[in-house]
Amino acid sequence: MFNTNVVVLNSFQATTELLEKRSKIYSDRPHTVMFHELTGWHRNFGLLQYGDMWRMYRRTFHQYFRNQAVPSFHQKMKRTVNKLLVALTDSPDDFLAHYRYMTGSLAFDVSYGMDVDSIKYPAIETAEKAVQCMLEIMSTGSFLVDTLPILKYLPAWLPGADFKKKAIQWRRCVDEMFTRPFKIAKNEWEHAHLKPSIALDLFRSMQDSQKDDPNFEEVITNITAVTYVGGTDTSTSTLRMFTWIMLSYPSVQAKAHEEIDRVIGRNRLPELRDKETLPYITALLKEVLRWRPIGPLGIQHRSTADDEYKGYFLPGGSIVIANTWAVLRDEKRYPNAQIFDPCRFLNDHGALDPTIPDPTEAFGYGRRICPGRYYATDLLWLTIANVLAAYVIEKTIDEHGDIIEPKDEFTTGLHCLPVSVKASFVPRHEEAVDLIRSLVASSD
Ligand code: HEM
Repeated sequence: MFNTNVVVLNSFQATTELLEKRSKIYSDRPHTVMFHELTGWHRNFGLLQYGDMWRMYRRTFHQYFRNQAVPSFHQKMKRTVNKLLVALTDSPDDFLAHYRYMTGSLAFDVSYGMDVDSIKYPAIETAEKAVQCMLEIMSTGSFLVDTLPILKYLPAWLPGADFKKKAIQWRRCVDEMFTRPFKIAKNEWEHAHLKPSIALDLFRSMQDSQKDDPNFEEVITNITAVTYVGGTDTSTSTLRMFTWIMLSYPSVQAKAHEEIDRVIGRNRLPELRDKETLPYITALLKEVLRWRPIGPLGIQHRSTADDEYKGYFLPGGSIVIANTWAVLRDEKRYPNAQIFDPCRFLNDHGALDPTIPDPTEAFGYGRRICPGRYYATDLLWLTIANVLAAYVIEKTIDEHGDIIEPKDEFTTGLHCLPVSVKASFVPRHEEAVDLIRSLVASSD
C-alpha cells in the first residue's frame, strides 16, 4: 500500500507462528501522524511502539488486570450491573446507552474511585468523543496524511487540510480525557479522600519510590485513562452484538433461561461465583466472541526485522494484519463454523469441553494480546447472566403493529457491529420484577 508492505495472516497456523512464536519481531505498532503527532494519542500505550516505554506501561497495567487481580473489581462490577438492570426497567428502549453508561461508569470507578451518576457526566461525554475519534483514525486509510506524512505541514486553513482542523479539535478532547479525571483524583488524593482505585494504589506506591520523578504523574494519568479507552467501546459493542444474537436465536436464549432457572432459581441473581455451575452461559459468551468478533481484523501489528515464512520474504517494517474473522471460522478448529451454536463448547454432559479452543484471538495475539481480557470476560459474563436472569430480550413492534426483525446488516472495517438493533427487555416473571424492585430500593 503506497510505500508500506502489508501482510495479511489468514490462518491460525500463520498467526501462531508469526505473532506468537516470533513475537519478538512482530510486536510493534505502525506509527501514524494522526495518532502519534497530531491528536495526542501517543499517551495510549496500546498504540506505543514496541520498546522500554511500552514495556513499563504494560507491566504497570498488567498488575491490576491480570487474571488473579481482577476479582478485586468484582464488587464494583456487581454494583454497576445492578444499576443496569434497574435502568433497563426504567427505559428499556435506551438499552445501548445503558450499556455504554455501565462500561464507562465502571471504568471511572475502577480507575479513579469515582461514582459517576449519569451518562451526561461531562467526563464520560468527553471520553466518548475521544474514543470515537480514535476509532475513526484507526479505520485503515481514513487520513491521507498517514500515507503522505509531508501533508502534516499544511496550514489548517488551506482547502483540503480538513484533517488538521479535525486534529486540533480532537487533540483538545483527547487531552481533556486523559488529564481531567486525573486532576480530580489528584485533588482527592491530596485531601485524603481518594477512594480505592488504581489511581489510589499508584499514588501510594509511587509517592516514596518515584516522587522526584517528573514523569510519575504522567504515568498515573496515562494508565488510568487506558481503562476507559480500551475497555468501554469494546465491551459495549460486544453487548450490542449479544443483544442482536438473542433476537435472532430465540432458542439459544430459551436454553440460557432454562439453565439459570434450573441452577440459580428465581429468587436471586447470578454472581461470578456461579460461573462453574452455568456452563451454557459461559459457552454462549465464548460463541458471541467467536462468531462475530467485534474487531474482525484486530489491531495492526508492525514487524521490526526481515523474516521468512513458507517461502515468502516478509520485509521488516511491514504492517501485519491478523484476519481474526478467518481464524475464528477455521473449520478444523470449529466445525460448521458459520453456525452460531454455543453447544460447540460443551461436551455430551453439558459441561465445558476443554478440547475446544477458546476464542482468545478475539482479544488479539502474542505480546500485544489485550491485557484487559480477564476483566472484560468477567464483566460480560456477569452482565449476560444477569440480563438473562431478569429479562426476555424480545423483538419490538413498529407503528403498524408489525414485528421488527433484526436486520442481517453489519458495519465493515475496523468494527463489525449490527447496524441497527431494536429490542425490548421484558421482565421474565413476577420474581424478576421483585428482584429488580429490591435493587432499586437498595440503590436508594
Ligand atoms: C470485549 C472486550 C474487548 C475486546 C474484544 C478487546 C480486544 C482487543 C484487541 C483485539 C486488542 C489488540 C491486540 C493485538 O494487538 O493483537 C486489544 C488491545 C488492548 N486492549 Fe482490549 N479488548 C477488550 C476489552 C478491553 C478492556 C476491558 C481493557 C481494559 C481494561 C482493554 C485494554 C486493552 C489495551 C490496553 C490494549 C493494548 C495492548 C497493547 O498494545 O499492549 N481491552 N484489545
